[in-house]
Amino acid sequence: MKTAIFYGSSTGNTESVAKKILKKLGGVEVLDIYDISSTKVEKISEYEKLIIGSPTWGDGDLQDDWESVFEKLKNIDFAGKTVALFGLGDQEEYPDKFLGAMWLLYEVIKSKGAKIIGEWPASGYYHNNSKAQDGDQFVGLALDEDNQSEMSDGRIDDWCEQIRSEIL
Ligand SMILES: Cc1cc2nc3c(=O)[nH]c(=O)nc-3n(C[C@H](O)[C@H](O)[C@H](O)COP(=O)(O)O)c2cc1C
Repeated sequence: MKTAIFYGSSTGNTESVAKKILKKLGGVEVLDIYDISSTKVEKISEYEKLIIGSPTWGDGDLQDDWESVFEKLKNIDFAGKTVALFGLGDQEEYPDKFLGAMWLLYEVIKSKGAKIIGEWPASGYYHNNSKAQDGDQFVGLALDEDNQSEMSDGRIDDWCEQIRSEIL
C-alpha cells in the first residue's frame, strides 16, 4: 500500500513543501498526495502510513482547510498507523505561537493511536515558545519560509532521509 501526504495551504508555501517531500521520497509512483481543501478527510483511513502538514495561521491556529475538517479528524482511528508531521510557521512574527498548528494535529492524531515519527531537533530556530516543541525536539519537521527559506531544502532532505525507512 502507498503512503499518502495530506496537506493544507493558504498561500502556497506548504503546498510547495509537500511537493518537495513527494519528489524527494520518490514521486507519485510511491506516494499519493492530497490537498485537504479538495479531499474528504476520511480518505486518511485508507492509508497506514501518512505524512501530514499544516502551516499555522491566526494566533497559533490551524490553517483554514484543516480547521474545517478538524472535528471529523477527531473521529478517525489512527491505531496501527504511522504518521510523520511537518509544519510551517513564522518564528519572528509569532515567536510565542510558532507552529501551533502542528501541535494541534499532533495531539489529536497521537491520542487516536498513531505512532508518530519524524521528530526534529529544535536547535537552529529563535522562537520563544512552541507547543509543537517537546524538550529539545519538535514533534515534526519545522520550517519557516518567512525567515529561513534558504534552510528549508536542506531540512526537507535530511528529514526525508530520517523518515524514509519507516514511512515507505
Ligand atoms: C495572518 C497570519 C497569521 C499567522 N499566524 C502564525 C502563527 O500563529 N504561528 C506561526 O508559527 N506562523 C504564523 N503565520 C505564518 C504562516 O504559517 C507562514 O507564513 C506559512 O509559511 C504559510 O503557509 P501557507 O502558504 O502554506 O499557507 C501567520 C501568517 C499570517 C499571514
